[in-house]
Amino acid sequence: MSSVPSTYRTTRLREGVVSFGAHPFPHEALADDAVVIRPHHMGICRADVKEILGSRDVPEDRGPLFGHELVGSVFFAGSASGFTEGETVTLNPNITPARTTGFAEYVFVRGTKEQLEQAVVRVPGPDPRQDVWMPEPFACIVHAVRKLLEPARLDSLAGKRVGIVGAGCAGLMFAMYARHLGASVTVFNRGEARRAFAREQGILTADEIRPLAEAGAHPDAFDVVVVAPTVATAELLETAAGMAADGAVVLVYGGTRKGDRFPGTSVDVDAVRRGELVEWVERAGKRLGVSGAYGCFKEDYEEGFRLRAEHPADFPLDRMASRRITLDELPEFVMDIAAGRTDHPGKVLIEAAPQG
Ligand SMILES: NC(=O)c1ccc[n+]([C@@H]2O[C@H](COP(=O)([O-])OP(=O)(O)OC[C@H]3O[C@@H](n4cnc5c(N)ncnc54)[C@H](OP(=O)(O)O)[C@@H]3O)[C@@H](O)[C@H]2O)c1
Repeated sequence: MSSVPSTYRTTRLREGVVSFGAHPFPHEALADDAVVIRPHHMGICRADVKEILGSRDVPEDRGPLFGHELVGSVFFAGSASGFTEGETVTLNPNITPARTTGFAEYVFVRGTKEQLEQAVVRVPGPDPRQDVWMPEPFACIVHAVRKLLEPARLDSLAGKRVGIVGAGCAGLMFAMYARHLGASVTVFNRGEARRAFAREQGILTADEIRPLAEAGAHPDAFDVVVVAPTVATAELLETAAGMAADGAVVLVYGGTRKGDRFPGTSVDVDAVRRGELVEWVERAGKRLGVSGAYGCFKEDYEEGFRLRAEHPADFPLDRMASRRITLDELPEFVMDIAAGRTDHPGKVLIEAAPQG
């Protein structure tokens, strides 16, 4: 282990305010059941912003998400952790709440060997500092597509028409994966900035990215509709239902909260999403499967690494980065996003200071 500092710098989210500063290094956290990660890169997720705003229901079994996207090196590995110092790793925030924020110089994760094996995922291949992308949001997409294919016993989307509501990070990665699996994709996004970003980064063609206002001109047109905006509002679910063909599946991926219903039905979309269920309904003369996906497992990360390594042209995940900032710039930057003063397409990356 490199020498342990007396202080380290971390962000804190308290009552809707993000701060950043030096705190005593918790030496007692260097325990047998701990892994301490030194992030090289972190990513800002919409869930971080929602937690600042208090608009996200935090599941007790997993804890808050504020600062959960990162790639870094193991700085300390407890004797019972199963890890080795220096390994390149990322975090799966869906396993244990016993972890500190990833928006920090050091991230502390504790658990049994089995929990740590799931919560801290090894990153294979060449130095990830040469190819920077965030594994966690992609693993969630890999997982969601698996949830979509499994019940239908499909191993590809060949010939399927996939419509996606929202060209945020999630919508773009869904499009990459569905296209890779043989589908034709059309992504509908409300604002021009994300549409332009998707085109300019070469992620989507002009035909594949359309204004959300055009979605109504595609009734009954898609075999799968993915709803991937910040919040899966009743209005956007209504739009998705209109786009779906008879027999289609509507996959609810964007935010839901307790008690939300799929419009015109009694389907509890929050339960469907968090429980990864499929409920079939008759609605406006069509049979629709309302499905959901939530979180991801270690195997989804591993499949994500494989897809990126074997098919780099299909998964231009590095081109999702729209901006790079430093950790000390984060509080003001993310508070501006939360306040609606700025918005950034793609992924904003945070670069840690060079490590000595
Ligand atoms: N199920 C899971 O496992 C899982 C995992 C990760 C994330 N998520 C969910 O996915 C959501 C999206 O994440 P992201 O990373 O893609 O976020 P993002 O990059 O910030 O993109 C947000 C998207 O939502 C759209 N949007 C926001 N408000 C809208 C409205 N009122 N009407 C229409 N479109 C609207 C934005 O469109 P504009 O460009 O027009 O603003 C943009 O396309 C998150 O909020 C989270 O709830 C789910």
